[in-house]
Amino acid sequence: MTFKEQIQQGIPNELPQPKPYDTNINHAPKRKEILTEEEKILALKNSLRYFEPKFHAELLPEFKEELEKYGRIYMYRFRPDYEMKARDIADYPGKSEQAKAIMLMIQNNLDYAVAQHPHELITYGGNGGVFSNWAQYLLTMKYLSEMTDEQTLTMYSGHPMGLFPSHKDAPRVVVTNGMVIPNYSKPDNWEKFNALGVSQYGQMTAGSYMYIGPQGIVHGTTITVLNAFRKINKEPKGGLFVTSGLGGMSGAQPKAGNIAGCVTVCAEVNPKITKIRHDQKWVNEIHENLDELVERVKKAQENKEAVSLAYLGNIVEVWEKFDQENLRIDIGSDQTSLHNPWAGGYYPAGQSFEESNKMMAENPELFKEKVQETLKRHAAAINKHTEKGTYFFDYGNAFLLEASRAGADVMSDHPTLGREFKFPSYVQDIMGPMCFDYGFGPFRWVCASGKPEDLQKTDEIACQVLEEMIKTSPEEIQQQMKDNIQWIKGAQENNLVVGSQARILYADAEGRMKIAEAFNKAIANGEIGAVILGRDHHDVSGTDSPYRETSNIYDGSRFTADMAIHNVIGDSFRGATWVSIHNGGGVGWGEVINGGFGMLLDGSDDAERRLKSMLFWDVNNGISRRSWARNEGAVFAIKRAMEAEPNLKVTLPNFVDENLF
Ligand SMILES: NC(=O)c1ccc[n+]([C@@H]2O[C@H](COP(=O)([O-])OP(=O)(O)OC[C@H]3O[C@@H](n4cnc5c(N)ncnc54)[C@H](O)[C@@H]3O)[C@@H](O)[C@H]2O)c1
Repeated sequence: MTFKEQIQQGIPNELPQPKPYDTNINHAPKRKEILTEEEKILALKNSLRYFEPKFHAELLPEFKEELEKYGRIYMYRFRPDYEMKARDIADYPGKSEQAKAIMLMIQNNLDYAVAQHPHELITYGGNGGVFSNWAQYLLTMKYLSEMTDEQTLTMYSGHPMGLFPSHKDAPRVVVTNGMVIPNYSKPDNWEKFNALGVSQYGQMTAGSYMYIGPQGIVHGTTITVLNAFRKINKEPKGGLFVTSGLGGMSGAQPKAGNIAGCVTVCAEVNPKITKIRHDQKWVNEIHENLDELVERVKKAQENKEAVSLAYLGNIVEVWEKFDQENLRIDIGSDQTSLHNPWAGGYYPAGQSFEESNKMMAENPELFKEKVQETLKRHAAAINKHTEKGTYFFDYGNAFLLEASRAGADVMSDHPTLGREFKFPSYVQDIMGPMCFDYGFGPFRWVCASGKPEDLQKTDEIACQVLEEMIKTSPEEIQQQMKDNIQWIKGAQENNLVVGSQARILYADAEGRMKIAEAFNKAIANGEIGAVILGRDHHDVSGTDSPYRETSNIYDGSRFTADMAIHNVIGDSFRGATWVSIHNGGGVGWGEVINGGFGMLLDGSDDAERRLKSMLFWDVNNGISRRSWARNEGAVFAIKRAMEAEPNLKVTLPNFVDENLF
């Protein structure tokens, strides 16, 4: 069968042969035993409902074995044989170009070069799933291949509920992930619902088909590292940045450190991932000996090298060793997956990677104790460094949250907010006031032709638009504009593409609209093929997350999620090709609500109308909320938006004289 025929077939009519477990690939750890015997039967029944009864007797023992061995039923046998990668949009079968664009993006999220655990359908973050099992994948692709622009596919946490009649301006796909009743939103609820096959953790861009590999985060991380050095008034050259994680997103840190120009030390416990990042040239050197690492850092600092050094081992060892050696760390952070602390997101010190994997499945209580002990050690070592002048920030991975829950010394008294973390999050100090409040966020696009030449042309177009805009940009956003022009100019030579031909660029509402409009014109003129627009959920309006995206909201509303919900509803009726809303990306299940969109530009007038309407809303919604919270940058930005668009009328806050209290 051809690729197209296989997609159109969906779940095969005849059972494919069982597939051997491929040990050459990175697999998800065994998940915690959480189901009762009755619930295991329910999980099996749930999985068998995808198949005709004549296959049940053969599939049942196999699925039972998967559940016992891996804690989940992935239905490995149904993994397709064709190569998993984003193809040219013309290679997909179907009646709807929009649906084909979504197929391309789904396959990119499962590409072996892109996904963290491709056979378990996990794109990044340890548990960020595109689907929960292969039947869902096959069925979804089939629906997409047969739908028209008068239908909408409804996705319930990886499960394609079906095609419903709609209209051409409606989204082709509406995705929800992990939407549970709030009182059932503890980590163990995820374990149970996911094992039952009824809910999944979509992370941000995994379950919304908008992941573009670590490039997506390299840019944001570069901006963060650059601005962190600006904050401490130090040149990155010769400076030392210490952090951890070489996974899906964390793997961007050494590359960003190189672009910023500092010395980066990044610890990682997983040898396979470390090798992948080294092979991809995202990290320059791998070290396994701490004494050698110390010497290498000293030499690199002396020579002012822009170099990244992976330490294959536990991050705690690095913080402690550098303290003993009195090595001055300028900037410190952490990007282990602490949003998922008990299931492989954070590895305890003093035991091997394999021992930890075994312990988390066989003795989860002891594993939890070990994680919490390590977190206390970790925070204690960081405190020693910060006393000596290190600038430490939480990198949106729930490090401070979990460290505080473990009883680590990370809290202090804030004059107005009460008991607070003693270190800022990167959003409080950097991304919030410098970017999000002004509307700057991770706008991205994918060239649907798959051609590198198209990407190069789009880079040039985006650069021209920004260079034109900067001529009249107000002082308040000059720095952001300059950083982004510099980024897009260097993007080609930084070799950032993994998987689809994608690019990320921080832009504000005006920039996003102008760049998108210019792309649409270039498509209409036949200069480039179709372009898929999107963004990370980690953006101005997409995400309500009190310790990350909305951590610089100080009016008490940072624990509300109205903004993210409004955003996705608003995007859906303003022309998005697909929309998604998730519980739990980034910082953990129950800790955040985040949403996003995808939009196909095909050069048509409809596409132009949609992009203008939707992008304007998609950014200004968040700015209005940030402005209402009295964030000065956002008040400035929303007033500017109102001047540009007379139909925008936003309620502005009045500032109160503090002396009145
Ligand atoms: N910085 C950002 O802008 C940003 C954005 C989104 C999310 N995050 C958060 O960052 C975290 C990392 O994301 P990811 O996609 O890279 O996850 P990931 O699970 O792919 O990578 C984390 C890595 O940390 C390693 N690790 C765990 N404990 C360790 C330890 N004690 N010492 C050394 N290495 C250890 C793991 O082996 C893993 O490879 C997540 O919590 C994510 O939500 C950050």
